[in-house]
Amino acid sequence: MGGIFGVVCKEKIRRGVVFEGLRRLLYRGYDGVGVAFLDDEGNIVIRKKPGHLEKVANEVDLFNIPSRIALGHTRYASRGWPTVENTHPLTDCTGKIAVVGDGLIENYEAYKEKLVRKGHSFSSRTDTEVYAHLLEESVFREKKDPLEAIARYMRELRGMYAVAAIIAGKEVFYVAHNGQPLIIGLTHNNECIYLSSDIPSLYGYADEAYILEEGMAAEISIDNIRIINAENMEPISIERLIKKRVKYQVELVGKAGYPHYMLKEIYEIPDSMIKTTYSLMEKYLRLAAMIIYGAKNVYVIGNGTSLHAGMVSSYYFTDLANINVNVVSAAEFPYYALKNVSTGTVIIAISQSGETSDVIKSVKLAKQYGAVIIGVTNVVGSRLSLESNVYLPIGAGPELAVPATKTFVSSLVALALLAGYTGLYTGKLSQTEYVGITEKIRETAKELRKDLQVYDNIAEKISEKLLGWKNMYVSSSGINYPVALEASLKFKEASIIHAEGVQLGELRHGPLVLIRDKYPVIIIKPVEEEALPLYNKVAEYVLSKNGFLITITHDDIGYGEVVKVKPTHKILSPITTIIPLQLIAYHLGVKQGYPVDTPPGLAKAITT
Ligand code: F6R
Repeated sequence: MGGIFGVVCKEKIRRGVVFEGLRRLLYRGYDGVGVAFLDDEGNIVIRKKPGHLEKVANEVDLFNIPSRIALGHTRYASRGWPTVENTHPLTDCTGKIAVVGDGLIENYEAYKEKLVRKGHSFSSRTDTEVYAHLLEESVFREKKDPLEAIARYMRELRGMYAVAAIIAGKEVFYVAHNGQPLIIGLTHNNECIYLSSDIPSLYGYADEAYILEEGMAAEISIDNIRIINAENMEPISIERLIKKRVKYQVELVGKAGYPHYMLKEIYEIPDSMIKTTYSLMEKYLRLAAMIIYGAKNVYVIGNGTSLHAGMVSSYYFTDLANINVNVVSAAEFPYYALKNVSTGTVIIAISQSGETSDVIKSVKLAKQYGAVIIGVTNVVGSRLSLESNVYLPIGAGPELAVPATKTFVSSLVALALLAGYTGLYTGKLSQTEYVGITEKIRETAKELRKDLQVYDNIAEKISEKLLGWKNMYVSSSGINYPVALEASLKFKEASIIHAEGVQLGELRHGPLVLIRDKYPVIIIKPVEEEALPLYNKVAEYVLSKNGFLITITHDDIGYGEVVKVKPTHKILSPITTIIPLQLIAYHLGVKQGYPVDTPPGLAKAITT
C-alpha cells in the first residue's frame, strides 16, 4: 500500500499543498516519502527519504515545490526495505520519467529480467520501478504515446495496483488504475487539478472528485483530461465516472487540537454514531433486509476490526431477526465457506476502507458462485462499494489513525440497524421496537458525549498501572466476547503489547496458568444473565492468584479496578464497552512513547 498525491496547476503550486496532501494519506504508509516535480527547464527533480513524513519534512523540503506539477508519494514498504533507493518516486535510466505506485505488481520480476537483458539498470528492489523502465522503452525508444503505453502495460502487468508517472518536459500525469484507488479532483476555478488515493486528502483543495475505476488509464494536464479503457483503448468521458462533491471539511482531516488522530476519532464516536443512523438510507436498508430475509444462507466477512464487528452482528441477527449468520474471516472464506455459496447465498462484507484485498477477493469469488453482496463500508467509491449489489455507507467520516476506533462503532450501528430491519421481515421486531433501537442509539450517543471525558480520565489512570507489562488477557462472554478480541487488537496496535482476547470459559482451560504476580486481566462483565456465574468464578480465581484485574461493567458490582459504563440495551453494550478499552490502549501507547496513529510496520488497509 502507499498513498499517491499529485497536483498540476496553471501557476506555481501553493506552499504546503503537497505536504498536507501526503500528511492526510499517512495512514496508507509511513516508511518513506517523496515528491517529483519539474524545474523551470522541464527537468525532473526528486526529493525523497525513507521514514515518517513528519521526520522527513525536517530534512527535505516538501513545503515549497517551485513547479506547476508535483507527484508525491508516501510509502508502505511491501517490496524492498525502507531505504532511499526504494522510496518513491522511482526513475528510469535517463532520469526523465518518475513513477509512484500503490499496491503490488505480481509479475514484475519477469519484466525486470527482460529489461535488464536489454541494458536497463534498476536502482531499487521495488516492483513499481519496472513501470518507469517500460515507459522509457515505449516512449523514448519506440516513440509511442505515453497513455497508450501505460494502457498496454496495464494489460500485461498483473496484480492490484495504481501507478502515476510524470515525464520531463510535460506537465502531465499518466496514470493507471489496476485495482487501487485513484481520484481526480477538479476545482471550480480550473486553477489546479489533483490526483489522489482518496477523497479526504482533497478537502479544501478540490471541489469535485471523479473516481477512476479499475482498468482505466488517464492523461491529466491542466487543460485536458483523457481517460481510456485500457482493455480496448476506447475513450471514456469523465462525466461517466462516479462524481462526488468534495465538501469543505478541512476540520475532518486536521487534529482539531487533539494530540493524536486516534484520540480525536474516539471523541468523534458519538457524532459518528448519529451520522451512521442518518447515512443509511431507508430504501437501501429495506432492500438489504429483504435480500437477507429471502436468503438461503448468509455469511458475514471482514478482517481485523471489521471481522470483530461482524462477530458482534451475529448476536444482532439472532436477537433482532432470529436469523443465523456465519461469520468468517475474509482471508479464510475462500477455503472454508466458498463451497456453500450458490444462488441464494448472501454475503455481508464489512470493510472500513472498502479496499482490503481479502474482502475484495472473497466478494469477487462469491459473486462468481451466484452470491448477492451487501457491502458495509466507510469509503464511498471504494472497491467494495462498487462490487456490492447493495451498499450501506456507515458515514463515520475519515478515519486517519491506523487503529480503527470510530468506524468499529459505526459499523456496529449499521449492522444493528440492518439486523433490526431484517427483524421487521422475519416478524421478530415490531416497527415500534425497530424505531426504539434507532432512538436508543441516538440517546446513547448523546450520553456518550457527556461521559467520554470521564472514561478518558479513568483510562489514563488505569494505563499508568499497566505500564511495564508486555502481556495481558482481555476476556468476556456473549456479545462482548468480540469486544474482548477488538480490545486486544487495539492493545497490540496502539500499546504494542501482546494482549490475547479469550472467552471467559476458555480462560479456565489452560490460559489461567499465567496469572500470578499482578498479571493483567481485563474482563468485560457479560450482559447475558446465564454467563454471570462463570464470570464470578473466573474473576475470583484471577484475584486469588494475585492477578491485576480490571472489570468493565454496566453496573456497580465489579472486581478489582472497576470501570463503570452506563447501563444500556444489550445490543448497545459492545458500543459502550469498547470505548474505555480503546482509551486505555491509547494512553498506554502514548505513555510508552509509541506513535499510536501510525504503529510501526502497519498500514490502515492491507490491499495486496
Ligand atoms: C484495526 C485495523 C485493521 C483493519 C483491517 C481491515 O485497527 O485497522 O485490523 O481493521 O485491516 O480493514 P478494513 O476494515 O478497511 O477492511
